[in-house]
Amino acid sequence: MATLPAVKQFSDRVNRIEISATMAVVAEAAKLKAGGADLVEFGAGEPHFATPQHIKDAAIAAIQQNFTRYTAVSGIPELRAAIVKRHATDFGSNYKPEEAIVSTGGKLALFNAIQVLVDHGDEVILPVPYWVSFKDIIEYAGGRCVYVETDEADGFQLTAEMIERNVTPRTRAIVINSPNNPSGAVLAPEEFTAILKMAHRRGIYVIADECYVYLNFNGSFSAGSVAEAREHTVIVGSLSKTYAMTGWRLGYALAPAPITSAFTKLQSQNTSSTAHMIQKAAVAALTGPQDCVAEMKAGYIQLRDQILAELATIPRITCSRPEGAFYVYPNVSAYFGRNGINSAGEVSRRLLHEAHVVTVPGEAFGTRDHIRLSYATSAAEITKGLKWMRDWFAKL
Ligand SMILES: Cc1ncc(COP(=O)(O)O)c(C=O)c1O
Repeated sequence: MATLPAVKQFSDRVNRIEISATMAVVAEAAKLKAGGADLVEFGAGEPHFATPQHIKDAAIAAIQQNFTRYTAVSGIPELRAAIVKRHATDFGSNYKPEEAIVSTGGKLALFNAIQVLVDHGDEVILPVPYWVSFKDIIEYAGGRCVYVETDEADGFQLTAEMIERNVTPRTRAIVINSPNNPSGAVLAPEEFTAILKMAHRRGIYVIADECYVYLNFNGSFSAGSVAEAREHTVIVGSLSKTYAMTGWRLGYALAPAPITSAFTKLQSQNTSSTAHMIQKAAVAALTGPQDCVAEMKAGYIQLRDQILAELATIPRITCSRPEGAFYVYPNVSAYFGRNGINSAGEVSRRLLHEAHVVTVPGEAFGTRDHIRLSYATSAAEITKGLKWMRDWFAKL
């Protein structure tokens, strides 16, 4: 039989990327669950709280009132106004509504921002550990990631000096995610400000992923408050974590108008607008009472303290203290070499199959010695999951 010529099935750009590791873990865990396994889930990065009632009511009312149509690509005017007002109130920024664009989740806002700014061969500085999707989104755009390692011993702290050392004539953008997923590190405001000013002086964009900006446990800082660097600052925000709205898919970007215009052009060719009734619910979230945000943050701080205390009872595991978001990033490398385990990926895979605890391996975030646990779950689940982990590690 004649052999058929090899045919390229997919585009180079899609071949450059991989499926999101967190999504892959969730899918693997779902398979085990479907088979009847009782799992403790520290895998997915999403709040365990329900979306606050007044936000749900606003969405239901919006459907009843027939807010069910296409809207302007960049979002309904009242939502763009609500985004800039909320940001100004909370962080002292001064964006105009035309500098805000609504997207279907923070992830799409980030994807579009990178597509708009990054070309083939451009370098993008990416501190490590990084949220899984940054790398693939940059590479999909043809950019080259320039990794800046941070050190667990310093609480994964980043400094302006560490970034500046990696700037070259090809540097197009710097991605900063504070509070950080997966480490929970919060960039010191003075260092963040210095990075923004240095980047602005050099004509480099800072893409500030502020999806966890309201889960900063000891302070409050947004890149948008550094007015003199604004021309080169792009903020990516999201309602997902702040208001427990992951499934609603509502994110946004704040950036100078020429960038939001280019962004609108791109979005007009991919998703058009975000769902109309979801935008109405987002207005309710941003303009309504904010106590729910403070209450959820207080809940995460308690859970952070609990999980750190429980992790400390597992011999040889070390863990830096997260100052924001809802993840811990323990170092499990002291167990490498025992019982066939040689990587964080192996630890995660075997924890899932043998201990029924879902975690995400550090390789997905650019480090080899860690696993990520999301503590956005109940105190009882943390106690149960950490007991199962403790027992499993004890047997290695
Ligand atoms: C750092 C970071 N940025 C962006 C996102 C995207 O969030 P969403 O698309 O739900 O707004 C996530 C979600 O986990 C995240 O952790």
